[in-house]
Amino acid sequence: MSHGETHSGQRRNTRLEKVWVAAVAAGLLAASIASGGIGTTVLDFFIPGSQPNSLPVRLASSSGCQSCHANYGQGDAEPHTGWSHTMMGQAARDPIFYACLAVANQDASFAGELCLRCHTPQGWLGGRSSDPSGGAITGTDFQGVGCSVCHRMVNPTYVPGQSPSVDQSILAALPFPPTNPHSGSFVMDPQDRRRGPYALSTNPHQWLQSPFHRSSAMCATCHDVSNPIYSRQSDDSYLLGTLNSRDLAGDKFTQFPVERTYSEWANSLFAQGPVDLQGRFGGNNPLVSTCQDCHMPKTQGYGANPTNGAELRADLPQHLFNGANTWVLRAVNALYPASETGMTPAGIYASIARAQGMLAAASDLQLFSDGATLTTRVINMTGHKLPTGYSEGRRIWVNVRFFDTAGALLAERGHYDAASATLTETDTKVYRGDSGVDEVIAAQTGLAPGPGFHFALNNKWFFDNRIPPMGFTNAGFASVQASPVGYAYADGQYWDDTAFVIPPGSARAQVQVYHQLTSKEYIEFLRDQNTTNDAGLLAYNQWAQWGKSPPTLMDEKSIDILPPCYADFNSDGNFDAGDIDALIDVIAGGATQVQGDPDINRDGNVDQADIDLAIDIIVGGNCPF
Ligand code: HEC
Ligand code: HEC
Ligand code: HEC
Ligand code: HEC
Ligand code: HEC
Repeated sequence: MSHGETHSGQRRNTRLEKVWVAAVAAGLLAASIASGGIGTTVLDFFIPGSQPNSLPVRLASSSGCQSCHANYGQGDAEPHTGWSHTMMGQAARDPIFYACLAVANQDASFAGELCLRCHTPQGWLGGRSSDPSGGAITGTDFQGVGCSVCHRMVNPTYVPGQSPSVDQSILAALPFPPTNPHSGSFVMDPQDRRRGPYALSTNPHQWLQSPFHRSSAMCATCHDVSNPIYSRQSDDSYLLGTLNSRDLAGDKFTQFPVERTYSEWANSLFAQGPVDLQGRFGGNNPLVSTCQDCHMPKTQGYGANPTNGAELRADLPQHLFNGANTWVLRAVNALYPASETGMTPAGIYASIARAQGMLAAASDLQLFSDGATLTTRVINMTGHKLPTGYSEGRRIWVNVRFFDTAGALLAERGHYDAASATLTETDTKVYRGDSGVDEVIAAQTGLAPGPGFHFALNNKWFFDNRIPPMGFTNAGFASVQASPVGYAYADGQYWDDTAFVIPPGSARAQVQVYHQLTSKEYIEFLRDQNTTNDAGLLAYNQWAQWGKSPPTLMDEKSIDILPPCYADFNSDGNFDAGDIDALIDVIAGGATQVQGDPDINRDGNVDQADIDLAIDIIVGGNCPF
């Protein structure tokens, strides 16, 4: 492949780099530059752990696992079949990734050094992030997070009696041992020893039993993402460190927190031990604690073809890894041949259906009405924030429709127009995280300060009302840079309430909670900000082709709205003895002019019981409806 071309034939533009070099030459290094592009180098994106070109034995191709770990009649429970239909298996083919990567490289030179290490670890380990646009990745690099990436991972913390003993020498020989797991700080076994949960009774290949593979710490390696170009200041702001230098300590808590899925989990109830969610997640194991418990649900079956000597396992973790992605596999399938992706139409359909199932299981909805106000409560049932992780373009919202007694629609809040992919946000609650650049970085980059999608430059969280998980504490989340921003949750609160004023005449409210993966605002940003190649347009076209990231229904409930409790029957603005008198007048057959329905206990009769209830409402403020 010629230099300057990516796998999809996109031409790489080095104009920004040249502008930067010229700026440096002109002595403008510390000054602000007009448009995009800070002069970061490969060194600024250094993360500890195994480094490129350091493995004596390269990572094996995932295709080589297929002969035994696929096609033995178990469908997606087969490791290779399941994995092929996951976003991790397709992470280096994901068109949204390439669109985002192009903007990241425009914004901060060599940012791709950071991105490629997680989205194609074998490409990165093979030194092919030398072209930060991904133009040098080749062959098996497109397998994304391949089998060997996970199965050669060594626990960076040596645990005597648990870690394979060879790990002690592997870790001792490591030039840059990780401080804490994040940002792809993986340590790879220099040899092809396949590590997994079991003690095997046969030797199909080199293997090691590894409790690390049953722990969330393994997923932490990539599911806490930090931006190493920024250093945390004493006031918790983040500023550029010295450019063209490595942060050798690589402590995530001193870098800008882009994603904190693992840390959110580590500060949740789930990290304290198994939680019984009664089969909501986990396959045949209702007690869920780790990431694997929910994202690799267990079943009974074989991890490899039994004719190759695999044993029947009662606790077989499936490589399903479904989360929130409900459409990008279709885009990958449209852009790459099935012979390369390993995907089938049925497999794609099944994976997307499982993701929709995860989203439906992710929350519960409760409704309350006092006749005047409708309150929606969205309860987070996941092991991290809802939503978690990659925040750009992800959102969850509450849609409410009020109907009159004839069933006609009176009013709607949080309307989503599918044709234009436009959400009316102003009259409802939207759960999301917004990062962007603060004034200091805005001045240094020429961007406007405030929320935005410049992944590689964002250095401030402007808003984050994503719902915390069970076991949430403010102190715990503050300690991992995951506090709510511009929003408050009490310790222990893993739900959120929203109050809607009920329009007059409403008899029923229908409430739906939706999740959308890729918002219109985000995909248009990726298309319009790209001055480098056509990756943004390509991603946009896929988004448009596959239904503009169709929202997924997470919850739906309906509630009958009874009229509010009227105690001010004589309409004088006070609830007092005068109202009881007015009510007695009605019952005695006199006056008919009272506000509201005098049958306030709704038993069909206007009688003494209504007077008793009125007294109760006026004296005690108790409205039973
Ligand atoms: C010749 C057949 C064969 C091939 C090829 C093969 N495996 Fe396996 N592998 C097996 C068998 C059989 C088992 C045992 C499964 C069991 O009993 O649960 C196994 C088990 C494993 C385990 C579990 C280890 C443990 O201790 O829990 C991992 C991990 C693994 N293989 C990874 C791979 C990877 C990665 C590849 C490709 C690079 C691969 N295998 C290729 C046959 C094979
Ligand atoms: C530490 C590993 C890591 C690094 C470094 C990293 N990512 Fe990711 N990326 C992830 C994970 C994990 C997810 C999935 C999280 C989620 O879905 O919430 C993800 C998701 C994404 C997505 C969403 C894809 C989709 O289909 O919606 C994009 C786009 C993306 N990353 C781009 C980038 C870019 C560009 C960079 C570099 C500036 C980068 N990533 C660096 C781990 C990483
Ligand atoms: C080598 C880095 C790496 C490791 C280790 C890793 N992940 Fe991921 N993961 C990624 C990347 C990159 C993505 C996003 C791919 C994309 O969307 O393009 C991702 C995406 C996901 C998703 C989102 C899928 C979706 O459809 O929204 C889930 C769930 C997930 N990973 C679970 C796990 C679990 C569980 C573990 C630990 C057993 C784990 N990951 C370990 C890099 C990693
Ligand atoms: C109790 C079950 C549970 C546990 C434990 C759990 N998750 Fe999730 N996870 C979910 C559900 C349900 C969703 C879908 C809703 C959402 O997007 O938050 C999800 C979504 C995700 C996503 C996709 C986010 C996106 O926007 O694309 C990633 C990535 C992920 N989880 C990773 C992890 C990792 C890593 C861990 C462990 C540190 C973990 N999960 C622990 C249930 C769980
Ligand atoms: C994102 C990391 C990740 C990737 C990628 C991955 N695995 Fe695994 N795999 C795991 C984890 C974690 C376990 C153990 C989970 C547990 O026990 O809870 C596991 C378990 C296994 C096992 C034991 C039995 C079983 O079937 O679960 C085999 C075999 C295996 N993997 C093979 C593979 C093969 C082959 C591939 C590629 C096609 C692959 N894995 C890709 C993380 C991964």
